[in-house]
Amino acid sequence: MSLNSSWEFAREILTKHFAGIRHPLFFGNTLSADDQTNLRGKPRPYLLAAIDLLTKMQGKTIVEVGCMRQPLRHSLEEFNPVCCNDGHSTVFWARTGLAVHTVDINPGCCNVTAEACRSYPNVRISCGDGVKFLRNFNGTIDLLYLDAWEAVETIPYAEKHLEAFQAAREKLAPSAIVLIDDTDVAFGGKGRLAIPAIIRDGFELLLIGRQTMLMRLSQH
Ligand SMILES: C[S@@+](CC[C@H](N)C(=O)[O-])C[C@H]1O[C@@H](n2cnc3c(N)ncnc32)[C@H](O)[C@@H]1O
Repeated sequence: MSLNSSWEFAREILTKHFAGIRHPLFFGNTLSADDQTNLRGKPRPYLLAAIDLLTKMQGKTIVEVGCMRQPLRHSLEEFNPVCCNDGHSTVFWARTGLAVHTVDINPGCCNVTAEACRSYPNVRISCGDGVKFLRNFNGTIDLLYLDAWEAVETIPYAEKHLEAFQAAREKLAPSAIVLIDDTDVAFGGKGRLAIPAIIRDGFELLLIGRQTMLMRLSQH
């Protein structure tokens, strides 16, 4: 296997989804409502790229921490920067037909997700804490999507996303993807502590921007 094996594997797919895209990093800057809507990168190309990569890897199971809080009132092909800033991630995963396990601590968000995914029997929604859910998860994870604790000062979001990764790490398949949202703010945001730990587990960094994508490919 070559040194940049994940990149070689992913290059064509990432080029397809990210050609021409510019996503800024905000570091410690406060985002205005206008920045949030019109300047900030959006999850969509990361979600689509992750799905194409997962298909190429023949992955079977997606686990998401932090499901939808924003109802989906349009087709997934439409993009509205006001409505699509969170990402509607669970419906993107649902459309793959793969096994999707999503967890959220807020019953209201679980209800929004249940409504959006009502025609997808492959989606299982759990209401509870993401770390506890991952500790109890009994299966192999091919794609882990971390998008829960808000990147605001009152919440230890970087620590909690690291804890979530640590709870999941033994359950990740030898070839797997980890995708983290909100890494373009607050000096790495939700991924600030998790990303180095994920890299130490043999994952390669594929993308940094609104989201960070890491991939590990098994040698077998
Ligand atoms: C930014 S939203 C997720 C957006 C979603 N992934 C999407 O694309 O639409 C973050 C979610 O994480 C949930 N959350 C916060 N703390 C959590 C925890 N301890 N365990 C599970 N979910 C949590 C919130 O209730 C919220 O719905």
